[in-house]
Amino acid sequence: MENLVKLTIDGVSVEVPAGTTVLEAAKKAGINIPTLCYLKDINQIGACRMCIVDTGARAFGAACVLPVSNGMNVKTNTPKIREARRVNLELLLSNHDKKCLDCARNQKCELQQMCQDLGVDDVDKYKGKMNEYDIDDLSPSIVRNNNKCILCRRCVAACNNTQAVGVIGPMGRGFKTKIGSAWEQPLNDVACINCGQCIAACPTGALYEKDSTKAVWDLLNDETKTVVVQPAPAVRAA
Ligand code: FES
Repeated sequence: MENLVKLTIDGVSVEVPAGTTVLEAAKKAGINIPTLCYLKDINQIGACRMCIVDTGARAFGAACVLPVSNGMNVKTNTPKIREARRVNLELLLSNHDKKCLDCARNQKCELQQMCQDLGVDDVDKYKGKMNEYDIDDLSPSIVRNNNKCILCRRCVAACNNTQAVGVIGPMGRGFKTKIGSAWEQPLNDVACINCGQCIAACPTGALYEKDSTKAVWDLLNDETKTVVVQPAPAVRAA
């Protein structure tokens, strides 16, 4: 027989199988907890700390990796929790290239949406040193801009766990941690299959599809290359 656990989330009683995370239990109770790094069954690593909740313990816990326990009393939306989430978000933004207006993900960015949802409008609250990375646009289809990466590792999980390709991963330590390929090779020089699952998994503009219109435009304006324009095939009358 299944081992069930009873707990209370924001005053709502819920019963779930042992081993369920607080995030999943909250979903069952109809309570939404914000997430950024979480992808169900693919990336559950507690990296972004946007899903923190108060269980009465000394420190807030990340709901996406916190298992339920009998009698747990979880609060997901207190003023202190909301403020802690805002600070976490402001810290993520402190090392994020915030040129949103010309970003491929503008208006479709989960980080941007999270700022709106949590009322973060001072995106430069924590000023300090920022990483500056070269943009890798050598791949025929994928552009990686690590200046917009929040190190959620969703792309790594999609590449390694879902696609079993495994050409990207975290490199370096601390402030210098970044996502890249072995020996810092561009995506074009590793066994990337251009499936685009890393782009689909990315919550920001750190990975995006190469703009083929721009690629053609650049080619047409490259005086070192000769462009042969093929005539369009004739349309036959039926
Ligand atoms: Fe839980 Fe990122 S969603 S830590």
